[in-house]
Amino acid sequence: MSPEFSDKVKKQVQDILAHYPEKKAALLPVLHVAQQEFGFIGEDTERMVAALLDIKPVQVREVVTFYTMYNRKPVGKYHIQVCSNLSCSLLGGAGLLDFLLKKLNIGLGETTKDKKFTISTVECLGACEQAPCMMVNFDYYGDLDEEKIDKILDNLK
Ligand code: FES
Repeated sequence: MSPEFSDKVKKQVQDILAHYPEKKAALLPVLHVAQQEFGFIGEDTERMVAALLDIKPVQVREVVTFYTMYNRKPVGKYHIQVCSNLSCSLLGGAGLLDFLLKKLNIGLGETTKDKKFTISTVECLGACEQAPCMMVNFDYYGDLDEEKIDKILDNLK
């Protein structure tokens, strides 16, 4: 069964479309509300958004697979995205990623059994001055070490 936006989100989408001269220009914000509504952008959502914006599903797929902010499968309540780019790597990011994976007992891209945590890596988060860093949902955490990560996880549990 193909997904359908709630009435509230349909109204949001209409408001978004009103800001753009062409429907297809609204693809990014429409995908944001779709992700808020469904938690991720699956193939059926890609097709629905494409139909809504009068574009081909492959054009939606191109955008969804380009930006790491769009989840292609369900994620946990807390989506931890660890920066894997240069500054963070040089300051121990890879070791901290291993620490997190071991601590939560999952692999990269996986979700804990209780559906609380998903871990993935991202390119530069644009906060290199705080390297090594990560995001949990929309919150940034920088100058990380194992002790700080322990505290962050304790606060989220
Ligand atoms: S390299 Fe990690 S935030 Fe820029």
